[in-house]
Amino acid sequence: MQAMHNMIIAPSLLAADFSRLGEEALRMERAGADWLHLDVMDGHFVPNITFGAQIIKALRPHTSLFFDVHLMVEHPQRHIEDFLQAGADGITMHIETIEGGSLSWALDAIRAAGKKAALSVSPGTPIEAVYPWLEKLDMVLVMTVEPGFGGQAFMADMLPKVIALRSEIIRRGLDIIIQVDGGITESTIGMAANAGANCFAAGSVIFNAADAKEAIAKLRLAAD
Ligand code: DX5
Ligand code: ZN
Repeated sequence: MQAMHNMIIAPSLLAADFSRLGEEALRMERAGADWLHLDVMDGHFVPNITFGAQIIKALRPHTSLFFDVHLMVEHPQRHIEDFLQAGADGITMHIETIEGGSLSWALDAIRAAGKKAALSVSPGTPIEAVYPWLEKLDMVLVMTVEPGFGGQAFMADMLPKVIALRSEIIRRGLDIIIQVDGGITESTIGMAANAGANCFAAGSVIFNAADAKEAIAKLRLAAD
């Protein structure tokens, strides 16, 4: 499939200097980021603990970037209202953490607030797990590493999921963003874009670069 234009680059704050999060968020805005990817980890669904709604709320005045909140937490439905109030523009829940009535309620609550609702699949989860929910989704996140840590190697064997999902979205005539997250670099982003992804969360490759603006520009070029 041909690479799609209007790709979204979402630097992941997980790779930022945690003592200066407000400045780091603004630095990404000035570097030409489209979204800011915010990795919320609870120490249960994933081993790490990062930050929650209170820190996101504190960051909100520092940038006008779209806040793309990636919830890696158990019972995400318990926290939806908090993240909406904190200023999230999109909320992604893992399909491994929620099901049935709670899932349906959470997706509706996000959309009722006028925000983007998304589900994510970890590497071990088949992409078909999100198919029953596609009509309620604005985005699907296909993890290209095991969630929990930055700086891991891209799993190219996740790309068939992206290809299958893109064709299912087209078959149903839906308009859904496909995000990939984990191990995105100049040498992997093109593969993901070719498979049908149009949104890219990237941490280390942007935050560890000497020049974040150049790093983002290079990613865009490599995805095109
Ligand atoms: C991993 C996080 C990712 C992470 C990506 O659980 O969801 O967003 O920050 O980091 P890199 O780009 O360094 O693989
Ligand atoms: Zn993430």
